[in-house]
Amino acid sequence: MSKKITELVSGAEQAPALYLNLLKKSLTNTFFVEEPDVDQESQAQFVQGFVQHYIQGAAITMLPMARLNNIQNAVEDTINNDIPGDLVETGVWRGGATMFMRAILKAYGVQGKDVWVADSFEGLPEPDPESRPIEAKAHSGKVMKDVYKKFAVDIDEVKRNFQAYDLLDERVHFLKGWFKDTLKDAPIDKLSIMRLDGDYYESTRDALVGLYDRLSIGGYVIIDDYGEAGWTYCKQAVDEFRDERKIDDELVKVDSKCYYWKRTKA
Ligand SMILES: C[S@@+](CC[C@H](N)C(=O)[O-])C[C@H]1O[C@@H](n2cnc3c(N)ncnc32)[C@H](O)[C@@H]1O
Repeated sequence: MSKKITELVSGAEQAPALYLNLLKKSLTNTFFVEEPDVDQESQAQFVQGFVQHYIQGAAITMLPMARLNNIQNAVEDTINNDIPGDLVETGVWRGGATMFMRAILKAYGVQGKDVWVADSFEGLPEPDPESRPIEAKAHSGKVMKDVYKKFAVDIDEVKRNFQAYDLLDERVHFLKGWFKDTLKDAPIDKLSIMRLDGDYYESTRDALVGLYDRLSIGGYVIIDDYGEAGWTYCKQAVDEFRDERKIDDELVKVDSKCYYWKRTKA
């Protein structure tokens, strides 16, 4: 005789993985189309694909699949090793990466970890042309202003995205404003994951200075733009901070742009 559903679900260990895989495809809008290849040689072709797929398309994160897998591996590692602390992303655009963080915690029934969604919700800040000339040039360019719209997404749209996926609950907190004003005094006790995706030097530095001291040993710092040498000084901000704090934890490559390290020392 065939098994009843109640008997089948007792062996449903695969359900979280099935849900998370489906979710990654939905958030990246890759059910029927391929994502742009971040490592392709032609920058012009990449930008064209990026605009079509993310800016004009329905993707809810502009992270490629490899970076969502990286988030998943990091969060799962911190759960498996009982690393205390909440999860934060600084720079969320439409919210997809933070939605995915909440979904991982929900899928495994993890209690006691919150997700912090930090953004101006009005796009990238104006870089100083004197000290940050290549950022200022990119920022005032036509593509950034007219096509990317400085990556501005209204907070209500981000909340709607969370809501649409049944991920908006009391465990999700929004920190609206510039990082220099919101992060330092944010009511976050400890962090296990800090994912920095604010693109620019100041945004990266403000996030490191504002949050790193709260990162647990065994927690992760993920830097989305470490390899984006052509239009940001993100790498410089990270390298300077690591030097100042004498951090020598290995920087691990996710793809040509995104890197992370796992904190091993106080
Ligand atoms: C590249 S997008 C983030 C992409 C996002 N992580 C995703 O999953 O698609 C950069 C975001 O950083 C925000 N941002 C950058 N610098 C900021 C700052 N200093 N303060 C607040 N928000 C900032 C922008 O508003 C924008 O939403």
